[in-house]
Amino acid sequence: MSDAETNVKKKLYIETVGCQMNVLDSELVVGKLRGEGYELTDDIRQADTILYNTCSVRQHAEDKIYSALGRVRRLKERRPEVSIGVLGCMAQKDQDLILKRAPFVDVVVGPGQLGRVSELLERAKEEHAPQMAVSLPRSGGSRDTVTASFAEYDPLREPAMRPNPFQAFVRIMMGCDKFCTYCVVPSVRGPEQSRPPDVIVAEAQQLAHQGVKEITLLGQTVNSYKYQEPDGRHTRLSDLLLRLHDIEGLARIKFITNFPNDMTGDLLQAVRDLPKVSRYLHVPAQSGCDEMLKRMKRLYTVALYDDMLARIRETVPDAAVSSDFIVGFCGETEESFQKSVRLVERARFKNSFIFKYSPRQGTKADLLFNDDVPEDVKKQRNNDLLAVQTAISREDNRRFLGQTVEVLVEGPSKTSELGEDGLGQLVGRTWCDRIVVFEGHERLVGSFVPVAVDDASAVTLFGRVVTTEAVSAGVPVAW
Ligand code: 5AD
Ligand code: SF4
Repeated sequence: MSDAETNVKKKLYIETVGCQMNVLDSELVVGKLRGEGYELTDDIRQADTILYNTCSVRQHAEDKIYSALGRVRRLKERRPEVSIGVLGCMAQKDQDLILKRAPFVDVVVGPGQLGRVSELLERAKEEHAPQMAVSLPRSGGSRDTVTASFAEYDPLREPAMRPNPFQAFVRIMMGCDKFCTYCVVPSVRGPEQSRPPDVIVAEAQQLAHQGVKEITLLGQTVNSYKYQEPDGRHTRLSDLLLRLHDIEGLARIKFITNFPNDMTGDLLQAVRDLPKVSRYLHVPAQSGCDEMLKRMKRLYTVALYDDMLARIRETVPDAAVSSDFIVGFCGETEESFQKSVRLVERARFKNSFIFKYSPRQGTKADLLFNDDVPEDVKKQRNNDLLAVQTAISREDNRRFLGQTVEVLVEGPSKTSELGEDGLGQLVGRTWCDRIVVFEGHERLVGSFVPVAVDDASAVTLFGRVVTTEAVSAGVPVAW
């Protein structure tokens, strides 16, 4: 008899690092395992199965997992019956190396094979031997064969399995074909594949039916989404947004992350014209220097990026734009770095995520260029660029003082616990993705409320709930 049948719940502990794609993958893996008789625990010492869903985008993310594995080694010595799994991008990238460095690991499963986690956990137990399931390398066969080895993994979800009942991620694309020279993603997440629109719409409908109000569409370059039907018809992201917009119950649609060259007019018009679409565009620039962009193989120049920003501002003037930057990339001089500073100043991003270049084995940059910017210079540039961005973010947020914004309430704010009366500090986001903290009752969680902003820091707006009567009586609501 299986454990599920005898009702003995196995305890599952999972740690997830990296991007939203990984958060979604973990949710799906956990959902499947829960359906097979596991229950989640946040106490690693109680766990029968310990999973790490990993990231390879920078060395730091990998180091974190290898040191977590170092700590778990002792636990496994004491309790050899505990199963340990390494999932995700590092599993695909390091493969056997994981078993060499941590021989007590039971399963190694790449992001293209996640549907097999439970089967492999069982097999590792039966055979007393570690199991590995990874996809083919990008050069491991024809495009179709390699693509097929990165299997689609988007099982329909049980509502109870979702961490949050009214927000959900929906994957619309897998993999990436841009091959930016610094980036490991195309090799660990495989070829770019767009999921069929009918399947995406059906998934979103199911989510809406379950009470989801906000979906975030995910893709490494989400605005490159393109699906060709057998009869030749194409669906672009703008077409998909239009179809999703019709779904009853869905109130807000976001999409991340965009590639600058694919920020087309039809997409910007869709953002402008479809009221359910969030006015938030994350479009990583990576650098403000043409030589760097060329070395990164980003396929655009600074002038083209500026032009794209101008088109965004013209079509959707109230949109918030955010960016990613890499500092200290191979050959980045002080002068090239200053060009990134000037781009941040010009663009006035809502916020920027800034990363120190981390060489990734197997990438073009690692093969062709020297990682020649010293660590202390990378650190200094990171701090400097962040300081410029933070000052802009603070200034921009202060524009909201005295205005009323509409917030989708996400839950208690990180630093606060609600009182027994259900009151406390709540957090939510505006239509342009700004974080808002305010006092309120927990019954507001999952609903849209107008909040009058009376204070602002670089990352957060602070305010108080305004009655809906006041809004209908004419208090203007900003994005
Ligand atoms: N080093 C540092 N940052 C990187 N990113 C991707 N690859 C690297 C790397 N090798 C950053 C990019 C990307 C974000 C998700 O991570 O800015 O947009
Ligand atoms: Fe990496 Fe570039 Fe693809 Fe983004 S677009 S995932 S940075 S290769």
